[in-house]
Amino acid sequence: MKAAVLKEFGAPLAIETLPDPEPMAGGVVVDVVAAGVTSYAANVFNGSRNYALELPVAPGAGGIGRIRAVSPDATTLKVGDWVFCEATVRSRDNAADSILQGWTYRTAAALPLHRLYHHGSYAERMLVPTENVTPLGEIEPAEAGRWTALGRLLVPFGGLIAGDLKAGETLVISGATGGFGGAGVAVALAMGAGLVVATGRNPGTLDDLVRRFGPRVRAVRMSGVEADDLDNIVKAAAGPIDMVLDFLPREATAAQVQAPLATVRHGGRIILMGGVRSELALSYNVLMHKELTVRGAWMYSREAIPRMIQMIRAGLIDLSQFELTEFALSEANDAVAHAAANAGPRQLTTIRP
Ligand SMILES: NC(=O)c1ccc[n+]([C@@H]2O[C@H](COP(=O)([O-])OP(=O)(O)OC[C@H]3O[C@@H](n4cnc5c(N)ncnc54)[C@H](OP(=O)(O)O)[C@@H]3O)[C@@H](O)[C@H]2O)c1
Repeated sequence: MKAAVLKEFGAPLAIETLPDPEPMAGGVVVDVVAAGVTSYAANVFNGSRNYALELPVAPGAGGIGRIRAVSPDATTLKVGDWVFCEATVRSRDNAADSILQGWTYRTAAALPLHRLYHHGSYAERMLVPTENVTPLGEIEPAEAGRWTALGRLLVPFGGLIAGDLKAGETLVISGATGGFGGAGVAVALAMGAGLVVATGRNPGTLDDLVRRFGPRVRAVRMSGVEADDLDNIVKAAAGPIDMVLDFLPREATAAQVQAPLATVRHGGRIILMGGVRSELALSYNVLMHKELTVRGAWMYSREAIPRMIQMIRAGLIDLSQFELTEFALSEANDAVAHAAANAGPRQLTTIRP
C-alpha cells in the first residue's frame, strides 16, 4: 500500500510503499478514505512538540474509511461498512496506558501498543483495534472528508461530558477561535447550552461565530490584561457562569487561562483541555469556598462516538459549517502546510488516500 511516511523529525513526509496490514484477532483492516490533518501536525513532524513517536511511521490520527477485512472475533462488522476510526487506543489490560495511533504513545508502558498499532491514517490501509471502529451507516463517498469533523467535534464533546454540561447552562469557552474550541461552541449549543461566551483574540473569527450561531453565542475579545478580560466575560455572561472549557494552546500564558476561571459561579466546573505549559496560580481559599471542580480532560470515551454520530444525523450539528480542503496522499506535505496556515473553527484539512 502507498503511505506518507515520516522517517526523521524535520524531514518531509515521503510517499512510499509499505506492506499491506493483515487482519488479526482484535484488529480489523480499513481502507482509509479521508484522514484529518490538525493545525499543529507540522509541529509534531518537525519534532518541536517532542511527541513520543517511533520512526519511521505513516502518521495520521484516525479518520473515515471502509472495512476491508474483519477480525475473526468481530460479530457485527461487515466488509464495506463505513466506519469512523478512533485514534485513542487504550491497553486492554490497563486503560491508563494509551496511544494515539500513528501519532504518539503516552506512557512508556504503552510502547508495545504503539509498535503493534503503529501506522496511522496517512496510508491507503490501516490496522485498527476492532473496538476502535464505529459504524457510520451509509454516507456518500464525497462526504467522507466532511465526516472527519467527528475527530474535531468529539474532543470538546469529551470535555463537555466530563463537565456534565446541562441544558440551559452558561459556558465560557477559552480559545473558541481555534479548531477544537470553535467545535466546542457548536457541540455545546447542540447539547442545549443556554449561552456560550466565546473568547479569543481574533475579532474576525469571533464575529463569524456570533454570525453563524446567533444570540446564544456572545464573543469576548481577550486583551491579555487579566482584570479587563475577567470583567468583559462577566459582562457578556450577564448572569452566573456554570462552566469554563479551556482550549488554549501551549503558547498561552497562565494569566490568559486564569481570567475566565475566576468568573465561574459557586459550585461551577472548570475543564482544562488545552496545551498550556505554564503553572496556574489557583487560590486554595477560592476553590474551597466556591466549591469549584477543576478537572483535566483528555479526548473522550468510546460511548461518546455513537452519540455524536446521532447528533449529526439528527441535524443538531451541521457538517456543512466546515470549509473542507482535500489533498491526495501524494500531496500530504501540502496538506500539512495548509492545515498550519488555516487553523480555525471552520477549516478542515483532509488527506484522501
Ligand atoms: N485534551 C485533549 O484531548 C486535546 C485534544 C486535541 C487537542 N488538544 C489541545 O488543544 C489545544 C488547541 O488546539 P487547536 O487545534 O484548537 O489549536 P488552534 O486551532 O491553533 O487554536 C488555538 C486557540 O488559542 C488561541 N491562541 C493562539 N495563540 C495564543 C496565545 N499566544 N495566547 C492566547 N491564545 C492564543 C487561538 O486564537 P486567537 O489567536 O484568536 O487567540 C485559538 O483560539 C492544543 O494545545 C492541543 O494540543 C487537546
